[in-house]
Amino acid sequence: MKFITVDSYESLSKKAANIIAAQVIAKPNCVLGLATGSSPVGTYKKLAEYCSAGDIDFTEVTSVNLDEYVGLDGSNDQSYRYFMNENLFKKINIDIEKTHVPNGCAKDPKAEGERYDALIESLGGIDLQLLGIGLDGHIGFNEPEDKFTKETHAVKLDESTIEANARFFESIDDVPREAITMGMGAIMNAKKVLLIANGKNKKEILEKAFFGPITPFVPASILQLHPDLTVIYSEN
Ligand code: GLP
Repeated sequence: MKFITVDSYESLSKKAANIIAAQVIAKPNCVLGLATGSSPVGTYKKLAEYCSAGDIDFTEVTSVNLDEYVGLDGSNDQSYRYFMNENLFKKINIDIEKTHVPNGCAKDPKAEGERYDALIESLGGIDLQLLGIGLDGHIGFNEPEDKFTKETHAVKLDESTIEANARFFESIDDVPREAITMGMGAIMNAKKVLLIANGKNKKEILEKAFFGPITPFVPASILQLHPDLTVIYSEN
């Protein structure tokens, strides 16, 4: 594991964008696993800048996002599909047909999970997976529980996650209680994993996840077993 500490969100965003840009340059038709949340916003902004400057080309790239809220469709401005369109896809030259987010409105979440895993498999897996980390150690929406779940699956969100994500909604009551998330199988099978985190409030969970025991009660701790993991952290 490479654990890189930087002194600003700007520097974190630049480093993360450079790692993703290097991947796209090395393999123009790569599969990028993408994340939402506040952490990757700066990274996506940099990637959009590089793309506008002609330094990277996303036309052959395919993306698969980690998760989506249950019950929100892509036109809802709180959905992760909407977030991705606004923060990245509209600003780069990716083919929108090659961007994938789990369908939060699927009638049968189990079938949706199977469809999503089969899609990732048909793409040959993920070349580079970008991750944030929740305050309870979740990655994607893999919440703490007594086991690691391999498949893409529906989950009930923890109270702490609902509280943390309430800042993006008008009121806490508007935060969906369920989500569909990629499981640990697709994440651990990604050839490279890049996790970014910023803020003093993430310090404790990072210590637990990357320097503590591997346990499903700290879901991100499984990444200690990944052969090509980079963590970038900025306290500011
Ligand atoms: C959400 C997402 C995660 C993300 C986490 C941290 O719950 N499902 O994928 O990593 O929040 O978000 P932030 O980067 O805003 O701290």
